[in-house]
Amino acid sequence: MSDRLFPDGFVWGTATAAHQIEGGNVNNDWWDWEHKPDTLCAEPSGDACDSWHRWREDLDIVASLGLTSYRFSLEWSRIEPAEGEWSQATMAHYRQVGEAFLERGIEPVITFHHFTTPRWVVAAGGWTEPATVDRFARFCERAAQELAPVLRRGCTLNEPNIVSTMGYQLGLFPPGEADVALKDRANETLVAAHRVAVAAIRGVVDVPVGLTLSMTDYQPAPGGESMVETVRRDEDVFLDAIDGDDFLGVQAYTRMLIGPEGWIGPETGVPTTAMGYEFWPQALAATIRRAWEYTDGRVPIIVTENGIGTDDDEQRIAYVRAALDGVLDCLGDGINVRGYTYWSLLDNFEWVLGYRPRFGLVSVDRSTFVRTPKPSAQWYADIARSNRLA
Ligand code: GAL
Repeated sequence: MSDRLFPDGFVWGTATAAHQIEGGNVNNDWWDWEHKPDTLCAEPSGDACDSWHRWREDLDIVASLGLTSYRFSLEWSRIEPAEGEWSQATMAHYRQVGEAFLERGIEPVITFHHFTTPRWVVAAGGWTEPATVDRFARFCERAAQELAPVLRRGCTLNEPNIVSTMGYQLGLFPPGEADVALKDRANETLVAAHRVAVAAIRGVVDVPVGLTLSMTDYQPAPGGESMVETVRRDEDVFLDAIDGDDFLGVQAYTRMLIGPEGWIGPETGVPTTAMGYEFWPQALAATIRRAWEYTDGRVPIIVTENGIGTDDDEQRIAYVRAALDGVLDCLGDGINVRGYTYWSLLDNFEWVLGYRPRFGLVSVDRSTFVRTPKPSAQWYADIARSNRLA
């Protein structure tokens, strides 16, 4: 059974993001978007999981599961609520969170931007405005200075390709633009922002820094070959920008069959999840392989997100088991995968879809905020502790 073992030092973690769990993040573009009448948003984020106050409960659960890393994000709009105004109290909050995790032997993995952008940055042009690059660099530098004692790994931008495609091409995320030229411009700004953020964070603290990328297992349906190349380009512009980084965070959830016009929807007979896409855990290994091949193995990989939105916890276990099986195959083929992070610790605010898709290892009562670990949490903990897929 030795082939079921993960390598020594393989990192096991779980992840969250500020806007999805903290609650009351009223000063960013998503809050506005959630309250606009003409968007597809199911409901506003509101109090989310109230993790701004209840983060110690979250910590206790992560610790009880024996995980060794916790990925969370900083809310830029709380840290810098107006240009050049820095909230010491907010930075102290995040530092306290980091310290508490470290004390319990859990490494804080900090994401500097996870989808939400302060109102003032958006008012000044957002991600199609070149000046946002320097603003982001300044934020990263300042936050890294404050958090240096607790930062163990830094993720600059979460899924910049989703920020650009959903926000500027498909109009589903803020700012709700639907223009390929704007998407391309956003990609350029985000690539530049990543590069300056790496330099800014490394200038302050000597920890691994990298990008997290949303990767989809795009497969051609009949006639879709060239469209696959087109949709992959929004991943590739970022894969082209990570040379010299300490790691690449791969985040994968599903497969998409691509026809001449784009995604043709789920294949008949393949089950779908609460997200409306296919139950396809094989996507993780497929995208790890693609990232590794595309970058000629120059950058180690960490799975910084993988998981499933489902009300069926058995299905969650089946999904993660199959995904991890694929990770073991990748490792067996010599691909340098250093860790796995389950998305998400908590059932939380799933962006446009609100609270309906439940990705958590832990459920959260929407009126009392009481956290209840699901059986999958224990199942995952056993794998992490034994470093073996049973
Ligand atoms: C990712 C995103 C997370 C979470 C997850 C599940 O795209 O980074 O915030 O929402 O998908 O859909």
